[in-house]
Amino acid sequence: MDLTVKIAGLTFKNPVLLASGTWGFGEKLKNYLDLSSLGGLVTKGISLKPREGNPPPRIAETPCGLINAIGLENPGVEIFKKHVLPPILAWKTHVLVNIFGETIDEFLAVAEALKDEPISGLELNVSCPNVAKGGLAFGHDPATVKALVEELRKTYPGFLVVKLPPVGPVLEVARTVLEAGADALTVANTYPALAVDLTNRRLALGRGTGGLSGPAIKPLTLKLVYDLYRELKAPIFGCGGITSGRDVLEYIFCGAKAVQVGTATLLDPENPGKILAEIEQELEKLGETRLENLFAGLFKSKH
Ligand SMILES: Cc1cc2nc3c(=O)[nH]c(=O)nc-3n(C[C@H](O)[C@H](O)[C@H](O)COP(=O)(O)O)c2cc1C
Repeated sequence: MDLTVKIAGLTFKNPVLLASGTWGFGEKLKNYLDLSSLGGLVTKGISLKPREGNPPPRIAETPCGLINAIGLENPGVEIFKKHVLPPILAWKTHVLVNIFGETIDEFLAVAEALKDEPISGLELNVSCPNVAKGGLAFGHDPATVKALVEELRKTYPGFLVVKLPPVGPVLEVARTVLEAGADALTVANTYPALAVDLTNRRLALGRGTGGLSGPAIKPLTLKLVYDLYRELKAPIFGCGGITSGRDVLEYIFCGAKAVQVGTATLLDPENPGKILAEIEQELEKLGETRLENLFAGLFKSKH
């Protein structure tokens, strides 16, 4: 069955990528999953300097998902390049490096450091606070995110994806980053959330608030994908609460070209492989032989 997907000059062997921050750097996952069988891998967020992340607890479970406040812990781009990236690049699939910074210059420096690496592209996490704007996330401020992508485009000609926050002026930000030169959008990051530890009369997470992911967010992010595709007709990686092959097809039906699987991988490292196998089974049930036939089908139906 033909599951290939083309996005801005890249051909993905299938539409299932692993989402940033939810598969470590693959060292444990490889015992459960052939990472080369996937459409691609998006690395954990990488910054210019190493970051320790937030104090524990960093995860709170909810009935249909989890709230995390990891705090973007990572070894920094130089150690990442030397020790972490080489084994990831050994997998025969696309590798997108997710990067972030607290200033535009920091983003540019990380991109510059990665410029000569044989990666497939960069994913910008713009859900992080912009120090120059008093902590307002880049992705909530169309003017700053526009400047960021325009500056990056002056030196980085490769595949560039912007990962949007799911709240704020999402449509305006999405339109702006595409006009500034981004190739695709990842829709979306986690939703602002909190959990309470009533026994100890405090917030459950060390940092206070966090981001909600998992099945609870699927209908919300599905709507975002639908809204953004309807308005922009741009290439979208759908990302939010995917746990089955059917979920993947729903995202594709709503206008996503491909998807990223996050929390489901944390729940069971075999899940991405199962999801991939289910896509073929579900397509068969629907009487389809090509994934492409389902793409944006919702816009061709009566609704
Ligand atoms: C533990 C954890 C760590 C994450 N780390 C990152 C990160 O470093 N950069 C990023 O852009 N998104 C990060 N995310 C967000 C996920 O990549 C994904 O966008 C989100 O969890 C929604 O997808 P899901 O419901 O399939 O998990 C993280 C999510 C979780 C649960």
